Amino acid sequence: MLFFTLLLEVIWILTANGGQHWTYEGPHGQDHWPASYPECGSNAQSPINIQTDSVTFDPDLLPLQPHGYEQPGTEPLNLHNNGHTVQLSLPSTLYLEGLPRKYVAAQLHLHWGQKGTPWGSEHLINGKATAAEVGETKNPAYEHILSHLHEIKHKDQKTSVPPFNVRGLLPPLLAQYFRYNGSLTTPPCYQSVLWTVFHRRAQISMEQLENLRETLFSTEEEPSEPLVQNYRAPQPLNQRMVFASFIQVGPSYTTGEMLSLGVGILVGCLCLLLAVYFIARKIRRKRLRNRKSVVFTSARATEA
Ligand SMILES: *[C@@H]1O[C@H](CO)[C@@H](O)[C@H](O)[C@H]1NC(C)=O
Repeated sequence: MLFFTLLLEVIWILTANGGQHWTYEGPHGQDHWPASYPECGSNAQSPINIQTDSVTFDPDLLPLQPHGYEQPGTEPLNLHNNGHTVQLSLPSTLYLEGLPRKYVAAQLHLHWGQKGTPWGSEHLINGKATAAEVGETKNPAYEHILSHLHEIKHKDQKTSVPPFNVRGLLPPLLAQYFRYNGSLTTPPCYQSVLWTVFHRRAQISMEQLENLRETLFSTEEEPSEPLVQNYRAPQPLNQRMVFASFIQVGPSYTTGEMLSLGVGILVGCLCLLLAVYFIARKIRRKRLRNRKSVVFTSARATEA
């Protein structure tokens, strides 16, 4: 396979933090969140598994329009290791249109897996952990975040990042997405999130993925705990509807799948062509042999 799916998902939600200590695994892990944070055990939680054959097309879902994302001011942006994720604060001059209300940007953060695992995203599509796609080339927009990770290795460390084109972090196509009502995917799991899950993934390089998975720690000092596998398991959909802004025509393929499909089709065609060629040659030879024998027979006949 020429491609890998990965482990990374960008979410644009409001911050809600503080309170009881929580982790992804162990005695304070996700199964225990509802004990300290009751809303985490409620019935409209995120993430979910999006089953694409069960989504409802909604023609009123307009393309998302980010405003101010390409030039987020002149002030440096704050980048923070909060022990759960790496978080970039965004100025409120950034906002989104194409939603039922005007949403102002607050922050963005990432979720990822760990070395050697092919998952790490929170939302699943058809049971598959989808995330950004890993390609050959560095994604320059993500480099504005990833190149600073070594400055905030430990929990509670902060650094500032020069403003950059934040639109570049989003996938190119903002018209195709899934929409549903859900929650924050970390405690306190407030069910106040109108989720937009883009159909197409963003792409970063394997090197960038390794940087993300291997630089950060979830602890302040020794003993150092690596900050990995910071994704929540999918939650029951219950009575909720998932809408799509687009009509899916058959299964959809990624560039890598298209490429392998294309190569497969090409090889298939070549085999068919060769088979046809050999069969045709065989038939021609047979015919020629028959003709020869006819000529021979008639020759003999004339001789006779
Ligand atoms: C989300 O919930 C609100 C309030 O119940 C409802 O009006 C809206 O249609 C829901 N949106 C989606 C995408 O389900």
